[in-house]
Amino acid sequence: MTDFKNKIVLITGGASGAGRGQAEVFTEAGAKVIIADVNQARIDEVVATGAAVEGVKLDVRDREGWAKLADDIEKKYGETLDLLVLTAGVNAFGPAEATDFKTFDFITEIVYTGVANGLITFVPRMIKKGKGGAIASTVSWGALGSGATVAPYCAAKAAQLNLLESYYEALKPYNIHVTAVCPANINSHIYESQLEMIKENGKSGYNITEDTAKLLSTIHAHGMEPRDLANYMKKALEEKVFLCIPYKSGPEMVAEALERMPLLASKDGIAELARRAAQPPTAQQLKFMSEREGYDITAPRTGELAKPADDAPTLDWGKVGFGKAAADVDFVDPSKRQNA
Ligand SMILES: NC(=O)c1ccc[n+]([C@@H]2O[C@H](COP(=O)([O-])OP(=O)(O)OC[C@H]3O[C@@H](n4cnc5c(N)ncnc54)[C@H](O)[C@@H]3O)[C@@H](O)[C@H]2O)c1
Repeated sequence: MTDFKNKIVLITGGASGAGRGQAEVFTEAGAKVIIADVNQARIDEVVATGAAVEGVKLDVRDREGWAKLADDIEKKYGETLDLLVLTAGVNAFGPAEATDFKTFDFITEIVYTGVANGLITFVPRMIKKGKGGAIASTVSWGALGSGATVAPYCAAKAAQLNLLESYYEALKPYNIHVTAVCPANINSHIYESQLEMIKENGKSGYNITEDTAKLLSTIHAHGMEPRDLANYMKKALEEKVFLCIPYKSGPEMVAEALERMPLLASKDGIAELARRAAQPPTAQQLKFMSEREGYDITAPRTGELAKPADDAPTLDWGKVGFGKAAADVDFVDPSKRQNA
């Protein structure tokens, strides 16, 4: 897709962070942008700036809500979407072994099933429209690796990426292009979603408090600006690239991230991975990590990050217990707990 003028675009999670940046960039490119989100106050804010022609309250887990939204768009605009952007997502940190069912369901049903709900609702309508089109989704760098303290998220992101690749292949004959964007750290409000999860579920096996959310906010304050990320997404759509790693060394980073796979498949490979883990990170690894995270990843985690968010207090990772199990989880050995 190279011409966005008057294209009908729907962006989930469009009220904040990456999705809001996408709404701004595609609106400026001339598209009619509709945002769908659960946060009505932020929807209203974005619509008031003119970055979207309308905002709709939708929980991406709600399949009836998806169907109603698709019908409403056809009634209002006379046809279905040209571009579907699936960005809504949530996150929470804690040891994999402390994951409970409610935590697992909250993350995977929004991150993975929420994307599948969008594809299953809109793909048949886009095919029937017969004008080609595009689908873009904000995945995550987490899709390319496992995460001992972010397991359901990484698993859901890996599934999201895999699903999108299958759709990329399947939809080529219909001239519907699919792009999956895999950023690492973004300057966004995603740290709030762990508190939303506690509100919805009551509790989690993970230690989630106002302070763990604040600490996470200091990390995200260093992340990529949503508009910059949106411009990477737009370029990938224009160039029909499937996997968009929004960094200068993107393809090299992917090669490095996947290097572990053949090594995990043999005894000698496992020994080699252990040998590497005992070494300090290489100059290239440090460069890639800093590019992705936006801060000095070698800085000690006992105090503030190099550049804390202006409005967040300096927090001690150890005291806050970020990435740790909830206090009442009695089977997680604290000496084996890792930071996220
Ligand atoms: N922040 C990061 O560092 C980071 C890194 C990699 C990938 N991502 C991904 O980027 C995407 C956007 O997140 P962000 O970082 O901009 O966070 P954000 O919280 O600023 O924006 C996410 C939006 O999704 C909405 N949302 C949450 N649950 C929803 C639901 N059930 N239905 C509809 N909308 C819902 C939120 O209200 C919010 O407006 C997510 O998929 C996230 O996993 C984020």
